[in-house]
Formats: sequence, structure tokens, C-alpha cells
Amino acid sequence: MKTNRRSFIKHSSAALMGSLLLQNEEASAVTLDSLKNNAAADDEAFWKNVRKHFPLANDFAYLNNGTMGPSPYYVIEAVKKGMMDGDQFGNYGGWENLHAKLAAFVGADEKEIALTHNVTDGINIACWGLPLKKGDEVILTTHEHVGNAFPWLNRQHLHGIVIRTFTPAPTASETLERIASLINKKTRVLAIPHIPCTQGQILPAKEICKLGRDKGLFIFIDGAHGPGMLPLNLKEMDCDMYASCCHKWMMGPKGTGFLYVKKDFQQTLQTYFVGGGSDNAKWNMAKIPVEMGDYADSAHRYYGGTQSSGLYKGVEASIEFIESIGMTRIHERIKYLGKYTQDQLLALGDRIELLTPTEEQSRCSVNGFRIKGVDYAAFYKKAAEAKVRIRMVPENGLNSLRVSTHIYNRKEEIDLLIDEIKKAIG
Ligand SMILES: Cc1ncc(COP(=O)(O)O)c(C=O)c1O
Repeated sequence: MKTNRRSFIKHSSAALMGSLLLQNEEASAVTLDSLKNNAAADDEAFWKNVRKHFPLANDFAYLNNGTMGPSPYYVIEAVKKGMMDGDQFGNYGGWENLHAKLAAFVGADEKEIALTHNVTDGINIACWGLPLKKGDEVILTTHEHVGNAFPWLNRQHLHGIVIRTFTPAPTASETLERIASLINKKTRVLAIPHIPCTQGQILPAKEICKLGRDKGLFIFIDGAHGPGMLPLNLKEMDCDMYASCCHKWMMGPKGTGFLYVKKDFQQTLQTYFVGGGSDNAKWNMAKIPVEMGDYADSAHRYYGGTQSSGLYKGVEASIEFIESIGMTRIHERIKYLGKYTQDQLLALGDRIELLTPTEEQSRCSVNGFRIKGVDYAAFYKKAAEAKVRIRMVPENGLNSLRVSTHIYNRKEEIDLLIDEIKKAIG
């Protein structure tokens, strides 16, 4: 077909409209009204409607929210709009209100929130900023994600700090005892995951912080899986630092995160990565002698420069999306799905080794397991071929599998996984 200027404009604008406009059902999913409902955790009709808010393909079971939480259309549209504000009208900024919104969401003050791009950023800021010297001991678990292992291992390599580890126990009280037994006069830091990525068990963060506080330790919590899975109140938890992301359980844009640094800890946690926004605007390079002024009077001291208005507008939208349903209701629903998963796995008998505790306070929506006599990597591959996406856990020699479910999941999808396990065990 010969393309003249008029037909080119007609076709390219039609393509543009097609890509910008959503299908009818999708468009209705962009408004949040239908989510404001007092639905119970087992109201399958309500939760089926929630699924319509996500662009997730229907022909596969995505049971891997622990790696990445798909965003709903509402968030995707907010990202587009945030980008268009800059790209159409040259507007700069747009992330200034996010600190307050995030702070309210996690029970902190807006001056305690630094914007980051992922959990790893926050962990590095925390790890590097602590005044540690050779021989100082840091307590971690044997279940770390590379993101909370490698920064500390790097400081061990570069600065001679000493890493001590414990394995999370089947009960919260035993876990606390294991941590307490590692503390000695050289211990300086607890750097512990709130919910380890391996088996998704919820560690007793508040009690761990109390223990650390009583012993005068610096307390860092790797909160990759906290916000969006559990209602949080970081002030009450009483950690010094909590690093997280918005792209897992908050279902926000990928490459967004935050670091909480308690206000009165900001004098202790040194900042090394500074730029626009991390200063108090008192420096002037033309003035002799050249003086720095001071750091920003907030956690903004830990980052600087231009941020992505589109992505951070998307984070605001993800909080609005969560709050339309209600954080407590989300927690109840996903805990219900986690229990359903546990029950189905346990019903398969002794070929299944459930690794996540069944203790009420230690479980939510992530479960780790092994299938006796079946190679974990081979099973992962088979499940993926059957369009069931879970995660392998090769870390720390655990050689196991992980299933993690969020609000867009249905019980039938967990059943599909169980069917695949049944096939594997024969
Ligand atoms: C417990 C834990 N910590 C840290 C990370 C690293 O997160 P990010 O990729 O956002 O830096 C993850 C990611 O899965 C995690 O599960």
C-alpha cells in the first residue's frame, strides 16, 4: 500500500490511540470504586474481580510475587501520566509528596524516608553508613538474599568486620533465643530480614528490635517483603533502619524503593552518596574558604538528584490501590491463601517437606517446600512448562522451592501447582 502523508498520520495516530487506550474491561478496572467493599478473605467472587485490575495473562499461574509484584492498571496509568507531565509539559519533579504518603503507609515520619530504587540500594546505604571497625560483629541469618548478604560480606572483605549467622527456627521464640545466644561484647549490628526470601517466614521483628535495643546494637531490618504483605508501624517496631521496595508486595513500578532511617539515628548513619536535595543549601563554591554547610535535616541526606516522576507517581498510586481495599483486608486474604497452600502441601503426605512454619505468627503468604526424591530445579522447569511460575531457592544450599501468592491469585492456581506436584511424585 502506498503511504501518503495523510494515511501515515491516520495510521500512526490510530496505533498510538490503540496503545494508549485500554480495553473496556481494563478501563473499568482503572477506577477503584469496586474495591471498596468489606469482602472477607474467602469471598472468591470479590477477589476474582480484583484480578481484573491486573494485566496478568490469564493462561498461566503466577505464584511468584515474592520476586516481583505485577502492577494493576491503576498504577500503570499513573506511571504514564507522571511521565507525560514531564514529557508533554516539561514539568520537573513530582515525587515530593511521596515521602509523606510512604511514611503514613509504614508508620513513620516523612523526614525518615529516603527514596531508593530497590531494597539493595537501601541495604548498601545502611551497611556503608554504619561506623564499624575491624572485629566488629554483625548478626545475619543463613537465609539471606544476595542483597542482604553481599554488602556485609563486602565490608567483611574490605574492613574486616565479622559475620555471625543463625538459622531461623520453626517458632518465633526459638528464633529469638538463637539470636540472643550469638550476642557478645563484640556484637555491633543486627542486620536481619523481616521475612527471609527463602521460606517467607515472618520473623518477630519487634522482639528482635527490643533485644537489639537492650544490648545497645545498631538495628537494620531487610524489609523487602514487609510493606504490602503486613500492616506496618516502623516507629513501634523500633528499628534504626528498614530497607524495602515498592515492586513486590506493594505492586508498584519496578525499580522503586525506600529506606527508613529513624530521625535520631540520622546523626549516626553517615551518608556517602550525596547530591541535589541531600544538602541544606548552605554551600557556595565561589565563597572562600569553600564550605559544605550541612546535610538535609531528613533522610533526604541519603540520596540526591533527579528521580523518575513517572515511577514515583506509580508508587503513590500503588498505595492508593492498596488502601482502597485496605491493608488489613489484603493481609487477611493473602494469609488465607498461604494457609490454603500449606494445607494442600501437607495433604500430599510425607513426600513433601514444608519448610515454612505453621505457627500462626510466623506465616503469611509465602511457603517454602521440598519434594523428597525430586530435584528442585527439574521440578521448577516442569512447572514452568505447565505455566505455573514459582521460584527455585538455590541460595545458601537450601535447594528448595517457593510459592508466593498475592491478591490477584485464585485458589485454582494453587491447585494447578498441587496437580504438578502430584504428577512429580507419581
Ligand atoms: C529478602 C530480600 N532482600 C533483598 C532483596 C533485594 O531486593 P531488590 O532486588 O529490590 O534490591 C530481595 C529480593 O528479592 C529479598 O527477597
